[in-house]
Amino acid sequence: MAKRVCPVWVGYLLASPIRKLFQNPQRILSPYIENGMKVLDVGCAMGFFSLPLAQMVGSKGKVICVDVQEKMIRSLEKRARKAGLSNRIETRICHHNSLGLDDLKEEVDFAFASAVVHEVPDASRFFSEIYQTIKPTGRFLVIEPKGHISKKHFNITVSAAEQKDFKIIERPQIGRSHVVLLEKNVSLRF
Ligand SMILES: C[S@@+](CC[C@H](N)C(=O)[O-])C[C@H]1O[C@@H](n2cnc3c(N)ncnc32)[C@H](O)[C@@H]1O
Repeated sequence: MAKRVCPVWVGYLLASPIRKLFQNPQRILSPYIENGMKVLDVGCAMGFFSLPLAQMVGSKGKVICVDVQEKMIRSLEKRARKAGLSNRIETRICHHNSLGLDDLKEEVDFAFASAVVHEVPDASRFFSEIYQTIKPTGRFLVIEPKGHISKKHFNITVSAAEQKDFKIIERPQIGRSHVVLLEKNVSLRF
């Protein structure tokens, strides 16, 4: 059964510029992003992180934004048009049980999921689908909100990722958040 997803009205709050005071997208993401990268923003909502990502990847890069709620995606598209970033942003509406990323096999340089994993019905499947999209050298940053999610629950999330052949490479510090930076455990393939 699907878990409760973030209501659209909360999407507006999450997109507020005031949030930058404690979660600055540039500061959080710039260590991982280079010009020309293909980035995946899963559970992007109205694009609080997607638009700064589109700026960071430059005109040759691409940000693929996936969300289960059409209203979130439509609002993101509007904001991207206003910011002149539509040509760097590709939007996708997915299903609760599938991100629909089969066409992106090992194409993604950097994947990002902020405050999303606790909403997906099957974390194992979620990690497995994202694993398929990431290049062998790619990385995946997962952030979960401390207010909502206990340390114990976050550890279960990280274990689900490890069971799908991700390995932990860092635990970056971000305000009010549990965070883990993952990469593919390619040694497990041999
Ligand atoms: C709390 S919001 C976080 C939005 C954004 N990542 C941020 O940090 O501002 C969670 C988002 O994940 C989306 N979501 C929930 N379940 C999902 C699923 N199964 N697949 C894709 N997106 C999902 C929701 O629609 C919502 O937009």
